[in-house]
Amino acid sequence: MSQSLFLLPGDGIGVEVMGEVKKLVAWLNAQQKADFSTDTGLVGGSAYDKHGVAISDDDMKKAMAADAVIFGAVGGPKWDKVPYEVRPEAGLLRLRKDLQLFANLRPAICYPALADASSLKREIVEGLDILIVRELTGGVYFGEPKTITDLGNGQKRAIDTQVYETYEIDRIVRVAFDLARTRNKKVHSADKKNVMKSGVLWDEVAHAVAKDYADVKFEHILADNAAMQLVRNPKQFDVMVTDNLFGDVLSDAAAMLTGSLGMLPSASLGAPDKATGKRKALYEPVHGSAPDIAGKGIANPIAMLASFAMALRYSFGMIELANKLEASIAAVLDEGLRTGDIAQGGKSIGTEEMGAAILKKLAA
Ligand code: IPM
Ligand code: MG
Repeated sequence: MSQSLFLLPGDGIGVEVMGEVKKLVAWLNAQQKADFSTDTGLVGGSAYDKHGVAISDDDMKKAMAADAVIFGAVGGPKWDKVPYEVRPEAGLLRLRKDLQLFANLRPAICYPALADASSLKREIVEGLDILIVRELTGGVYFGEPKTITDLGNGQKRAIDTQVYETYEIDRIVRVAFDLARTRNKKVHSADKKNVMKSGVLWDEVAHAVAKDYADVKFEHILADNAAMQLVRNPKQFDVMVTDNLFGDVLSDAAAMLTGSLGMLPSASLGAPDKATGKRKALYEPVHGSAPDIAGKGIANPIAMLASFAMALRYSFGMIELANKLEASIAAVLDEGLRTGDIAQGGKSIGTEEMGAAILKKLAA
């Protein structure tokens, strides 16, 4: 039975890097290593231009029905002035919320070949392998009220609401512990329990969950200290679980340790369906649409291809193929192939050449 992929390239370099996924999928199908059916939709500015919204209801239905959504990137200066409700990011946030993709996995791996591209010293980042597990459907991103009120005296008041319930914390912390068991068996839970009630509850629930995982080392860390420790001594971490907003910030910091945002994949997963055991899932590179280099054919497709590797692993159980794809990425880097973002002024190749080189390694 074929597996369905819904491709949402989005805007800017999203379109270019998705092109390399399409080639990979075509090759896997042709080699009978997989049987993927694909459909493509619009999200972000490109959806706004066509439909006046950041994602159409029709494309939302397709995303709901797909075995996995493969997402590129959204946004760009062209849409800076569109109404807030239909800004490009709204498409991504609707996908996360409506598909209930509460668990966002953001690995930060420092490929040995790239340790010198990091802004930190080689010895600090070489061999780095951490996983940020970010809560993705709650907290201040979605909490109500979320308003700006005119107070009538020349002042306005803006409110965002940070809100978490026990079950939301419990399920994301369990994801972190389950993943830690497959890795180095260490979980840090980051919050601001010293100033936030949501942090107090977060820590209480995290400690309760930790009791079910006696084989995994558990530590609380304040989110600001986590930011500091990430740049001081990042290799002390294995899995770090945190809320939506702290996860957004800390994962960008973790990403940059590895040399380039252009390298990092992510997976956003829902709960397993009670009947089928299948999770709804969306896979996307951590980088954005990079309007400054869009359309030039120079974007790094590695984060997108590595996101597809995560899809192979988490949605389709094709572990061996996922490992091979990741090894192929490491191998081309070892050979010295670089896109502009990681070339450090040296020789660089384009998006298609990088995609082709990785595919060639995979085929070898
Ligand atoms: C991310 C991005 C998004 C977020 C934006 C584009 C809404 O920064 O995925 O980290 O804040 O979650
Ligand atoms: Mg972010």
